[in-house]
Amino acid sequence: MKNIYLDNSATTQVDPEVAKIMMEYMVEKYGNPSSIHLYGQQAKYALDDAREKVAKVINAGIKNIFFTSGGTEADNWAVRGVIEMNIRKNIKANIIISQFEHSAVFETCKMLEKKYPELISVTYLQPDNKGYILPEQIENAVTSDTKLVSIMHVNNEIGTINDIASIGKLCRDKGIIFHTDAVQSYTKVPIDVKAMNIDILSAAAHKIYGPKGVGMLYLRSKVEIYPLLFGGHQESGLRNGTENLPGIIGFGKAAEIAQNSINSDMPRIGELKKKLYELISNGVDKIVVNGDINKGYKGILNISFEGVEGESLLLALDLDGVCVSTGSACSAGSVKPSRTLLAIGVGEEMAQSSIRFSIGKFNTMEDIEFTAESVIKSVERLRSMSWM
Ligand SMILES: Cc1ncc(COP(=O)(O)O)c(C=O)c1O
Repeated sequence: MKNIYLDNSATTQVDPEVAKIMMEYMVEKYGNPSSIHLYGQQAKYALDDAREKVAKVINAGIKNIFFTSGGTEADNWAVRGVIEMNIRKNIKANIIISQFEHSAVFETCKMLEKKYPELISVTYLQPDNKGYILPEQIENAVTSDTKLVSIMHVNNEIGTINDIASIGKLCRDKGIIFHTDAVQSYTKVPIDVKAMNIDILSAAAHKIYGPKGVGMLYLRSKVEIYPLLFGGHQESGLRNGTENLPGIIGFGKAAEIAQNSINSDMPRIGELKKKLYELISNGVDKIVVNGDINKGYKGILNISFEGVEGESLLLALDLDGVCVSTGSACSAGSVKPSRTLLAIGVGEEMAQSSIRFSIGKFNTMEDIEFTAESVIKSVERLRSMSWM
């Protein structure tokens, strides 16, 4: 039985090199970075080193990186932390986001506008049919109350890459804080927080062949944010609690490996995506690609198969040992069509017929050829069944 993992946007296999160093920091160098003795010093040194590696990927300073428990926590903190500063001063705040932000941003905004109806308003911008949010849309939506713009870099379901440099410039010129959810793009699409005028950025280790349960928030020095957790003094007193040292070390190692291999990994992943699309489109009719096939992120291919339920196709592929997802992993189990696909104008039926193939560095051309064969065979069978 084959075992092909094409769900790398949900999570990735931990790189063995990453796992190896994490083990070292669990069983040998297990000190608390706040301790003064040798074990503590060793841990503190490793913590600083990991922070530097994570920062380097986005051209940030080490004092601007704050480790979190993952992407969701970083996104929640970015939005709540900025808005809380306004709420405390009883200042009205408008937030501009897109309709297809990840739930970690989207639901946080929903919660804030519900909890503080007098103070907080949220503007939900509709992306175009390929998934782009244009800087002009933001320019038109800005009001004198706008305090935060949060637009994701790479969309996790369709892979569209937003022009965050232009959005960043616009926000900086207007004195509005700009946050980007870079959970899907970090180490995969070049990011320079200084050149791109990014104020706050979220990332997570488990999308880059690192461990689950660790992520980070980049925060530009002049940006004020309310602390996330109160306690001792960790993470400059903004996110307190003993650090997840093995996780952070793993994150640092994963970031370093990814940064050093971006120029070889990404073109190869791009070739695999191209081949997968070519084989599927030659073997199956009535398909529609969701997103921008030419300029989208190289690791995501989202296709709707007319007349086929995505869930049924996913299960058929699973029986062949091919793991993919319908919509985003975070909404798996829900029967609702994907918010992202609806936002870009895909009809309900085609949205329910979509499959996301997400390719990673451990995939091979053989994986792609086998997957395409399985897709062609399964779609044919499912379509013939639905005609009976
Ligand atoms: C774009 C995006 N943001 C945030 C998250 C949440 O990250 P985490 O799983 O680390 O909580 C994900 C996870 O799928 C994501 O794809």
